Amino acid sequence: MKLEVIILAAGKGTRMHSQRPKVLHEIAGRAMLSHVLDCATAIAPERIHIVIGHGADAVREHVMQQSPAEHRFNWVVQEEQLGTGHAVTEALSHVGADAHVLVLYGDVPLIQPETISRLAQETATNSLALLTATLEAPDGYGRIVRDSQAEVVGIVEDRDATDAEREIREINTGFMAAQARPLGAWLQRLDNRNAKQEFYLTDIVGMAAGEGAAVCAVPVTSNWEITGVNARTDLARIERIYQERTAHQLMETGLTLKDPARFDLRGSLDFGRDCEIDINVVLEGSVVMGDDVCVGPNCLIRNCVIGSGVTIHANSVLDAARIGDRCSIGPFARVRPDTALAEDARVGNFVEVKKSNVGRGSKINHLAYVGDSEVGSNVNIGAGVITCNYDGANKHRTVIGDDVFIGSDCQLVAPVTIGAGATIGAGSTINRDAPEGKLTLTRVTQKTIQKWKRPTKKSS
Ligand code: UD1
Ligand code: CA
Repeated sequence: MKLEVIILAAGKGTRMHSQRPKVLHEIAGRAMLSHVLDCATAIAPERIHIVIGHGADAVREHVMQQSPAEHRFNWVVQEEQLGTGHAVTEALSHVGADAHVLVLYGDVPLIQPETISRLAQETATNSLALLTATLEAPDGYGRIVRDSQAEVVGIVEDRDATDAEREIREINTGFMAAQARPLGAWLQRLDNRNAKQEFYLTDIVGMAAGEGAAVCAVPVTSNWEITGVNARTDLARIERIYQERTAHQLMETGLTLKDPARFDLRGSLDFGRDCEIDINVVLEGSVVMGDDVCVGPNCLIRNCVIGSGVTIHANSVLDAARIGDRCSIGPFARVRPDTALAEDARVGNFVEVKKSNVGRGSKINHLAYVGDSEVGSNVNIGAGVITCNYDGANKHRTVIGDDVFIGSDCQLVAPVTIGAGATIGAGSTINRDAPEGKLTLTRVTQKTIQKWKRPTKKSS
């Protein structure tokens, strides 16, 4: 079967009260439309047509930026949003005459490939297939109308329904599949004589049934898949559904989560054996963990590769870093992009590291800033040490050899090199290279004023 997908994404989303087009609002850090595209791509259709209208340029640009180059989508601009039937009509002129068409919604992001694949398959033997659901609260949805033989005879929209029809709990999810040829014929016959004065896609169901065409209703297996976003409360609800499902999948494949309700994955996580994640941890982008990684509470980790046996203590933020085996980070550490820590390195509390390589077994334990630096192995960087990497115009590098000891509260004014095995006395400002194996310090000699007296308050 030649399958072509049409994704409806032209609507305004008035109830979002947003400048941003609705389908670009995010679930798990990704635009809703991107989730739908992932799902559509997963079933490998011949083509994917995306109907855009409100914020068309923004939507197109966003998707082009995020999608790999091999994904060419056909963009259909619907200048005026005259209804779902009109939107499909606009796209259908780009669809092959003998194709089978699957209609998806850009604002229903949790739909699963298995479900739409099952729906599309039905068009091998039916002219039209509808994905339906049975809801406790069907308000707002189009209702599936059946005859006395329980055959589907039409869909009535909520606004156009009689009180009796509103009692029907079987609803139209909006997802539909059809053979292109009859679909085109039905669409041509649509009118907009209804409550919204729109061309309703749903009106084709009555036409199909009236002609005696084979129409089949496919019930969705889990109602969460078909939840759409109309307002920001829906967005939050769908985010929770997504996160809960993700958390359970991760736990089922061996990850310990102290509380799945307080864990957010906005991207992907690869992990080894016996990793453990405490509460309120957010992972973004691509995160890879070896075995026995332990992440404390309140950490944000984005695009990192983390070795085995690593401990990340509470309240640490790691971004685009590579962390070697058995490293210890935090609490309250900030590891910024382009940082690589070799095995057994330690970055302690209130330490910021940026664009630096830190060698094996080196320690930066307290209140330090290390930026644009090359730090050798077994280096000890004392409390309060700062690399002065920025002269107000340019950034410069600091190079620290193996086995260096830098006393507390030193400033290393870059560009500067500290030779291997050197010791820098506490409180020094180092702006020239320090030789290997020697003690270098810039400290003013300590003196005591013998006869000095503390001033006393004058009596008036
Ligand atoms: C639609 C269905 C309804 C179903 C419900 C499920 C129709 C007439 N009704 O109603 O039976 O229960 O979805 O959520 O189809 N869109 C366009 N161009 C347009 C109009 C809409 O691209 O001219 C897009 C919207 O951006 C949205 C989708 O189509 O993604 C659905 O449109 P919407 O107006 O929200 O339809 P509903 O009233 O929810
Ligand atoms: Ca809707």
